[in-house]
Amino acid sequence: MSTNIKITRTTKSRLPEVDFNYLPFGKVFTDHMFIADYIGGQWVNPRIEPFGPVYMHPASMVLHYSQTIFEGMKAGRNYDGQPMLFRLDKHVERINASARRMCMPEIPGDLFKDAIRTQVALEADWIPTMEDSSLYIRPFMYATDEFIGVRPSETYRFVIFTCPTGPYYDKPVRLLAETSYIRAAQGGTGEAKTGGNYAASLLPATLAVKQGFDQVMWLEGPEFKNVQESGTMNIFFVIDGKLITPGTDGTILRGITRDSIIQLMRAKGYTVEERTVTIDEIVAAHKAGKLQECFGAGTAAVVSHVSEISYQGELMTLPGMETREIGNLIKSEINGLRNGIVKDEFGWIEAVEVGNLQLA
Ligand SMILES: Cc1ncc(COP(=O)(O)O)c(C=O)c1O
Repeated sequence: MSTNIKITRTTKSRLPEVDFNYLPFGKVFTDHMFIADYIGGQWVNPRIEPFGPVYMHPASMVLHYSQTIFEGMKAGRNYDGQPMLFRLDKHVERINASARRMCMPEIPGDLFKDAIRTQVALEADWIPTMEDSSLYIRPFMYATDEFIGVRPSETYRFVIFTCPTGPYYDKPVRLLAETSYIRAAQGGTGEAKTGGNYAASLLPATLAVKQGFDQVMWLEGPEFKNVQESGTMNIFFVIDGKLITPGTDGTILRGITRDSIIQLMRAKGYTVEERTVTIDEIVAAHKAGKLQECFGAGTAAVVSHVSEISYQGELMTLPGMETREIGNLIKSEINGLRNGIVKDEFGWIEAVEVGNLQLA
């Protein structure tokens, strides 16, 4: 590893207190976190410290102007227990694309990758062993200048923490195609993984839940015709045997699961179309009995089946879960790749070396 990361271990691990049979998503945190600071135009002082609160000045720029970006990824174990990472390079690419859009400094690939590898190696005992469980990894960066006034911050902090998570309970979801609020517009920040996008989604998502739906299907405004995403996942449809997903047009997050599905299914000989998908096309396909599947795709669930879609007061009920051949195939292939059961023809999987960490 080329990055010299200073490691200070906790004196009292919380691991013995954790109930690995009850791991609510995002609520259990491992013993350590990685931190690096951006000062004077460079990343300095990469270190791993005991997990805990971070100091925050009330004028810290992130609190006011939201210069903040993040990633979400998972480390699993392969069949012989070794930690495995999935498509680390894609996460480097995406966090730096988000950084450029939000006028933040890029994170050198080696710093990002060495930080993830070291954090995961140090927390390897926290990776759950049960099937479909993993260590969720949350890298993020935020503006730290203590200043009031709108301009890019000159200092930033890059942090990574990790959370053990149990099997994702993937009940089929009911979607409300949203025709008043938008998630992202051309020229906006939809392609960046930045906090503001999620903040803006909360009201429409809450209103959808009040109406009995699980998530919003985002349509591009102001026409509200082109389908963008589903909740915080990319969206796929199976129409007449073809797998179809909206093209990344600047408003859609470039999901790493999405990209993996496209490559994987094309390699298996399936037709995968990346193109504009309108809600009218979905309604027509449903009416003609050709809408076979719809699912959200993202790191946490891999595939989240959609059971119903509501658009302008009309409810479309999709075929039953027992018929979801393509979605289920994708889910088992990607999970299989991650735990080493499916052979990795793509070079997506990296095993993490545990045991040669330099301690401070
Ligand atoms: C808005 C949004 N779309 C799509 C995704 C899926 O991306 P990925 O497959 O990289 O997890 C995510 C999750 O990160 C997301 O937040």
